[in-house]
Order: sequence, then C-alpha cells, then structure tokens
Amino acid sequence: MLTPQEKASLSILIVDDEPKNIQLLGNILKMEGYLVQFALSGEEALEFVESDPFDAILLDIMMPGMNGLEVCQHLKRKEQTHNIPVIFFTARDDPESIVQGFLAGAVDYIIKPFHKQEVLMRIETHLALDWERSKLQQEVIKHQKTEQELKQYRDHLEDRVTQRTVELRTANDQLLQEIEKRRQAEQDLKQSHERLQKLGAYQERVREAERTRIAREIHDELGQALTAFKMDVAWMQKRIPMDNAYLHQKIGAMLGLIDTTIQSVQRISRELRPGLLDNLGLVAAIEWQTQEFRDRMGLEVHMELDSEDGLELHPDLSTAIFRIVQELLTNITRHAQAKRVGVCLRQQQADLTLIVSDDGVGITEEQIHGPESFGLMGIQERLDPWNGTVEMMGTPNQGTTVTVRVPVWKKKGDL
Ligand SMILES: Nc1ncnc2c1ncn2[C@@H]1O[C@H](COP(=O)(O)OP(=O)(O)O)[C@@H](O)[C@H]1O
Ligand SMILES: [Mg+2]
Repeated sequence: MLTPQEKASLSILIVDDEPKNIQLLGNILKMEGYLVQFALSGEEALEFVESDPFDAILLDIMMPGMNGLEVCQHLKRKEQTHNIPVIFFTARDDPESIVQGFLAGAVDYIIKPFHKQEVLMRIETHLALDWERSKLQQEVIKHQKTEQELKQYRDHLEDRVTQRTVELRTANDQLLQEIEKRRQAEQDLKQSHERLQKLGAYQERVREAERTRIAREIHDELGQALTAFKMDVAWMQKRIPMDNAYLHQKIGAMLGLIDTTIQSVQRISRELRPGLLDNLGLVAAIEWQTQEFRDRMGLEVHMELDSEDGLELHPDLSTAIFRIVQELLTNITRHAQAKRVGVCLRQQQADLTLIVSDDGVGITEEQIHGPESFGLMGIQERLDPWNGTVEMMGTPNQGTTVTVRVPVWKKKGDL
C-alpha cells in the first residue's frame, strides 16, 4: 500500500503513560520505517501536536490526568488537528468503551495485547487512507481555487463586456448625432443652393426683360426720331439753292451721319436683345449672331443648325442658349486667335446639343476652372435650372471645343 519512501516521510505519535508500551510499539513502527515520537501524557501529546503536525496518533485511553478520550475530542475540535487519524490502543475491551472511542472521533480501536502484524496492517491502512484523503483534499482545494479564478475571470470579463457595451453605445449615439447634424447641414446647403439658383434664374429673367424693354425703346423712340430727323433734313436739302455747293455738301454729310446713327441704333438694340429671338426663334437668332461675328472678325465659320421646326424650346431656355452662344463667340474673339470656327445646334431625341469649336490656342484646365472665369461660370449657371451640362476641352494650338447638353423633355419647374 505505502512505499518505503512514503513510510519514511510519515511521523506517528505514540501516547501512553507506560514507557514499556511505548517502547514496544515504537520499535515495531521504527522497524517498519516510520518516524516515531512519544508522549507520556495527554497534556504532553497536545503540546507536541501544537508544533508538529503528525500523520497519525496512537492513543492510550486510561492515563492519569487527561484520558485518551478527552485528548481525542480535543484534537477533533481543533481545525489544524481534526484531520489527524487517531487510533486507540487500550486494554478496555467492553463494547461500550469501543463505541465511546469511535464516538470521540477515532478511526480505529485496537485492544491490547495486540497482534503485531495486524496492528501494522491497520496503521498502514489508515495512513494510506489519510494519504489519499489529503491528496483528494488538495485536489479539491486546487479545483476550488481554479474555479474561483475562473469565476473572477468571468466576472471581470462580464464587467469588461458591460463597460465596452456602454462605451460602444455612447460612441454610437455620438455618431448618430454627428450624422444627423451633417444631414441637417447638407440639407441647409442644398436649400440655400436651390434658393441661389432660383434667385439667379429670376435675376436673369429680370435682366432679359429689361434688355428687351431698352432695346425696344431705343429701336422705336430713337429710331423713329432719327427717321423723322432724316426726312426733315432731306426736305431741307431739296430747298437749298442748287448753286450753294457748300450747304449741299454739309447736308449730304449730315444725311450720311444720320444713316450710320440709324444703323448703330439698330445694331445696338439688336445686340441688347435680338428681336429675332422673340419673333423667329433661337435658330434664326444664332444664325444672325454668327453671321455678324463672321462679318466682324473675317473668320471662316461653319454653321450646322437644326431647322427651327424641330425645336420646341421654352423661351427662357432659348434665351439661355443664345446668351451662351454669344459668350462663347466673344471668348473666341478675345482669346482664341482662331482662323476657323464651328457652331452646331441640334436636337437628338431628348437632348439638345450645342457645340462651339475653334482652331485657336486651346483653353487650359486652369483657365476652365479658374476662380476668375466668370464667363464660363455664367454658362454653367444658365444651364443649372435646365439640368444642362457644359464640357470644355482644349488642345494646345489645336483649338477649343465646348459642348453643351440640355435634356429638353424634362423641365425643372416653371422657371
Ligand atoms: N475659345 C477659347 N480659346 C482659348 N482660351 C479661352 C477660350 N475661351 C476662354 N478662354 C480662356 O478662359 C478664360 C476664362 O474665360 P471667361 O470665363 O469667359 O472669362 P473672360 O472671357 O472674361 O476672360 C479666358 O480668360 C481665357 O484665358
Ligand atoms: Mg468670356
């Protein structure tokens, strides 16, 4: 059951008031390899036990002073000693005493005189049992410790999870608030952009109406006055004596000046707002403007315009396109140094396309997006209410092409 090494590590206390008994039992146990210690009274035994945790105690019952039963009860009451197996060694063999012994907490009860081999077997059995028990207890303790650690770890983990959840929830709330703020800001921005667009369109309409009014006034009032003036001067011319060459020459010059002024007035009023645009429509107005441009600049101009019948445009869109053509032709005059110019307007299915191209120096990306390029910005702004787009492309020394597209079936409100 126990190995010699195990036996050599086990210490046994023999308690007996008879030194003879101690010696006999002690020798047997020593021979067997155990460590042995003696006490001659119950009091002495309890003293020893204080400082030395024995692996077993062999206890006589009848002793002067504290008897064996009392010693045993004492040991069983105390935390440090209550696990030490106690075996009574006594001459009292009545059943009552035996029962009392076991009731006091002993694991065994051996009656003297004893049989050596039997005693050794019994002691060894109890020691082995105790050995196993303490091993088991250690296991249990170890197990409890692990369980405790596990529980702590789990509690800690739960705490962390709770804490993290709170943190995440807070972060999430903040994020949601942030998103809401941004959404609000975006909406505000969109609204203010829409307001600006509407304001731009409104201003454009007012400006066009004003131009139309001034053009008409210049044309009608100034035109009529000049015509009347011309007729009066012509009337005077007829009444000047034929021989007054000086006056005739002067009046001739006056008539010439009146004619040029009439032409200027007509040109200025047309440029302010071509009546063609209102009377004959966009294609006719572009045609006239392009011819004017050709005559003034002496350039080769290629025109490709859809017939008016094919185009049914909102009057404001017609005006916008016409002003864009004017801006693009002015840009060619001022910046392109071109020899040839192309103007093309056509409607294909739902798209109105205007292409104005030249073979000049070519616009650059910086110029297209330049902060001072107000003319080009104005083009995009005129297109915004119609969901139109403008695309500009320049190649150095090969020219510039500007393409404007407007979806004509989809009008944005009643702008
Ligand atoms: N057809 C073109 N060829 C070359 N450069 C051009 C052309 N059109 C415009 N640009 C360049 O783009 C710039 C911006 O044009 P724009 O916005 O109309 O302003 P502006 O005509 O008042 O200078 C011009 O200053 C010019 O440098
Ligand atoms: Mg310009």
